[in-house]
Amino acid sequence: MIREATPADAAVMADTEARAGRGAWTEAQLREQLQVPHAMAWTDGEGGFALSTVVLDEAELLLIAVPPERQRQGRARALLQHAQRAWAARGATRALLEVRVDNAPAQALYRAEGWSPAGLRRRYYRDGTDAIIMDLDL
Ligand SMILES: CC(C)(COP(=O)(O)OP(=O)(O)OC[C@H]1O[C@@H](n2cnc3c(N)ncnc32)[C@H](O)[C@@H]1OP(=O)(O)O)[C@@H](O)C(=O)NCCC(=O)NCCS
Repeated sequence: MIREATPADAAVMADTEARAGRGAWTEAQLREQLQVPHAMAWTDGEGGFALSTVVLDEAELLLIAVPPERQRQGRARALLQHAQRAWAARGATRALLEVRVDNAPAQALYRAEGWSPAGLRRRYYRDGTDAIIMDLDL
C-alpha cells in the first residue's frame, strides 16, 4: 500500500538506496530532503520509495528505488504512477528527471510510463557518467 513518506522513513529509504542504488543519498540527506516545503515522497511500506519536488507547475523526480529482493514486481511502476497522479493533482503540468545513460532498467521503466528523452547533461555524475534528461507531459 502506497502512502506518503515522512522523515521517519529516511532510514529504510537509505537502506534501499544503499542496496539497490548507488548509495548517493545518506539517511541524513534523505531526512532533510523529506522536510523541504516542496518535497513530495511516497513509500510502499516495504522499502520501495519515490522522492520528488514540485515547484509551481514543474515536478522533478529525484530518486526512485526498490529493494533488490522486491524488484520486478511492479512496485516502481506503482510508485511512479502514484507520483504522476499526485503531481498533476498538485498543479504540475510537466515532470522532469535525470537518469544515468548506463541505467537501462530505470530508462525502461520511465519509457513504459510515457517519459521521453529531452536532452543530455554531459558528465553530470561524479564519476563522469552522462545523464539523460527525460520529461513527461502531465
Ligand atoms: C529502476 C527500479 C526502481 C525499478 O524497480 P522495479 O520495482 O523492479 O520496477 P517494476 O517491477 O515496477 O518494473 C516496471 C517496468 O520497468 C522496466 N524494468 C524494471 N526493471 C528492469 C530491468 N532490470 N530490466 C529491464 N527493464 C526493467 C520494465 O519495463 C518493467 O515492466 P515489466 O516488469 O512488466 O517488464 C529498480 O531497478 C531500482 O531500484 N534500481 C536502483 C535504483 C535506480 O536506479 N533508480 C532509478 C534512478 S533514481
